[in-house]
Amino acid sequence: MKDNKVLILAIESSCDETAAAVVENGRNVLSNVISSQIEIHKQFGGVVPEVASRKHIENINDVVYEALIKAQVNKEDIDAIAVTYGPGLVGALLVGINFAKGLSYAWEKPLIGVNHIEGHICANFIEDKNLEPPFVCLVASGGHTHLVYVRDYGEYEILGKTRDDAAGEAFDKIARAIGLGYPGGPLLDKLAQKGKKDAINFPRVTIDDDSYDFSFSGLKSAVLNYLHHCEQKNAEIIKEDVAASFQEAVVDVLVLKTIKAAKEKNCEKIALAGGVASNSRLRQHMGDECIKNNYKFMRPSPILCTDNGAMIGCAGYYKYLKKEFSNSTLNAMPNLELSE
Ligand code: KG4
Ligand code: ZN
Repeated sequence: MKDNKVLILAIESSCDETAAAVVENGRNVLSNVISSQIEIHKQFGGVVPEVASRKHIENINDVVYEALIKAQVNKEDIDAIAVTYGPGLVGALLVGINFAKGLSYAWEKPLIGVNHIEGHICANFIEDKNLEPPFVCLVASGGHTHLVYVRDYGEYEILGKTRDDAAGEAFDKIARAIGLGYPGGPLLDKLAQKGKKDAINFPRVTIDDDSYDFSFSGLKSAVLNYLHHCEQKNAEIIKEDVAASFQEAVVDVLVLKTIKAAKEKNCEKIALAGGVASNSRLRQHMGDECIKNNYKFMRPSPILCTDNGAMIGCAGYYKYLKKEFSNSTLNAMPNLELSE
C-alpha cells in the first residue's frame, strides 16, 4: 500500500466479456478494459459457452496487460487481485480464476474471490463517490433479477428474485422473436423509442402483492402468442409497438416492486444495477417515481451497468478491508448466490 492507497487489479470473465481493471480505494477507476465477444456470439444468436471460454483464454493476457498499462501501474503497485468466481458460465469463470491465481502466486499478492452480482451492485459506489448504504438495489441482468436491500458494505438481504427468466433474458428472447440481433436488450430499447408503449396491453405479472419475486415467462408467452396470432390472421405486426409495449410491461413491474421495497425498508435511496439498468425507459420511469416519492436515485453509467472489471475491483476493495481473502482452492461456482 502506497500513501494509504489500495490498488486492486480486478478480472471478470463470467460470460462473454473479458475484462480487467485497476481500481484505487474502491471507487477511483484507473483503468477499465473490456473486450467484448458480441461479434463472435452474434452469428449463433446467443452466447456459446465453449466458444466464450476459448476466447477468454485468447484475450485475457492482453486485457490484463492493457489494464495495467492504462492505469500506469506495475505489479509492485498492486495490493491484491480480485476475480469473479460466480455466478456465471463455469468454463468462462475458470479462465479468469486461474489467471488470477497464477498472478497472485507469482506476484505474492492476496487473492479475493468476488460474487458477480455483488460486483454489479458496487458499480453504484463508483458512479456516486458519496453513496453509502443502506439502499434498495434492483439488479437486473441477462442471468439475474434480484431485489436487494444493501444493509451495509457486503451485507445483503435478498427481498426477491425471479422465479423463471431474468429480465435481460426476456428482453433477448423477445428481441429475437421480432427479428432483432444479439444482444437483443439494447436493440429492443432503441426500437421501443419509436413505438407506442400502450399499443398492446401485455400482462404485468406481479405474482402476489406480498411478494418481491418476479416472473417474466408468462409475459414472454403473451408476446409470442400475440405474434403468432397476428401471423395467423395475416395482420400487420408493428414491431416498434410490440417492443415498446413489452418493455413497458417489464419496466412497470420492476419499478412497482422496487418502490414498494424502498417504502417497506424505510430507506431513502434506490439504485439500479446490471445490464438492464442501462435500459432508457427503466431509468426514466424509476427516476420519475423516485422524484414523486422523494427517493435519491442512483444508476451507474451504461458502461458500468454491463459486465466490467471496475465493479469487481470495487467489491474486491471492501473485501480487502475486511481481509476476506481466498486461497489457491478458489473454484468456479456457476450457481453462486449472493450471501445474506
Ligand atoms: O449484466 P450483463 O452485462 O451480463 C449479465 O451478468 O448477464 O447484462 C446483459 C443483459 C443482456 O440480457 C442484455 O440484453 C441486457 O442486459 N441489456 C439490456 C440493455 N442493455 C443490456 N436490456 C434492456 N435494455 C438495454 N438497454
Ligand atoms: Zn453481469
